[in-house]
Amino acid sequence: MLQEKKVTFIGSGVMGQAMIAGLIEHDLIAPQNVIASDPIKSLGERLNEQYGVGHSTDNVAASQGADIVILAVKPQYLDPVLAELGGKLPSETLILSIVAGVPIDKISRHLKLETIVRVMPNTPARVGKGMSVWTATDAVNEAQREQVKAILGALGQEIFVEHEYFLDMATALCGSGPAYVFLFIEALIDAGVHMGFSRPIAQELVLQTVEGSVAFARAYPSHPAELRNMVTSPGGTTADALYQLEKGGMRAILSKAVFAAYQKSKALGSSES
Ligand SMILES: NC(=O)c1ccc[n+]([C@@H]2O[C@H](COP(=O)([O-])OP(=O)(O)OC[C@H]3O[C@@H](n4cnc5c(N)ncnc54)[C@H](OP(=O)(O)O)[C@@H]3O)[C@@H](O)[C@H]2O)c1
Repeated sequence: MLQEKKVTFIGSGVMGQAMIAGLIEHDLIAPQNVIASDPIKSLGERLNEQYGVGHSTDNVAASQGADIVILAVKPQYLDPVLAELGGKLPSETLILSIVAGVPIDKISRHLKLETIVRVMPNTPARVGKGMSVWTATDAVNEAQREQVKAILGALGQEIFVEHEYFLDMATALCGSGPAYVFLFIEALIDAGVHMGFSRPIAQELVLQTVEGSVAFARAYPSHPAELRNMVTSPGGTTADALYQLEKGGMRAILSKAVFAAYQKSKALGSSES
């Protein structure tokens, strides 16, 4: 459904490149229909060599004739982008913003467009295992929603939410989520090293345990407590470890941490509007 569409990326950094790679590698779009716009010319040239996409250093020229314009710059660079594109895109252009914390209303006002999709992706998108949570204005039609699903599907899983306020929750849970998981992984590896494993072996044991636990939880979609009980024999080693984790307040700390990220996301969003 994207084959006939023209897609322009404003910003072709980490996330822009992950999206371009996903779209081309899944054969969702012809490379000649994609333009990567970025101030770094050599970056565009490399993307052209690697994926065959067009490139530009001129955002306005790159967006002319685009059906979908993807905003993929860092939040601090968005204002000049909105200023230069404002009023220059036809009303039917679909804008897809992955810029963290910037409300739809601000993008809509500056670009003078109604058709806006806002997405919260996460880092595992770089390996096709991302979790993207997205919402859209009422002006985004059914066909455009299907196009968005196809684009985000190339990055991993996507979930549509009816209201923009869910994006702050998604930011706290799955946008920042990989950082919590990496901290957990790091701490477990350090614990392995503390006991006497070499670091590479500890790392492999932990990564495979985390990956296997996720696969197991997907294969047996019971309540996590039931899965945990399967590993916990009465009076055994796991029970001792879990006792220490509960005593240390792991559950409450995680909840507080996620809630703090949620509050921060809301505060940043309201200062942006
Ligand atoms: N990375 C993540 O895991 C993640 C997760 C969720 C959401 N996001 C969101 O995704 C967006 C992009 O993040 P990223 O990690 O991909 O950032 P990034 O790697 O810094 O990529 C942004 C690119 O945009 C370029 N750029 C700067 N000003 C521009 C302009 N005026 N016109 C066109 N391009 C411009 C940058 O060039 P220079 O290097 O020269 O500045 C850079 O190549 C951010 O808004 C972030 O909030 C990222």
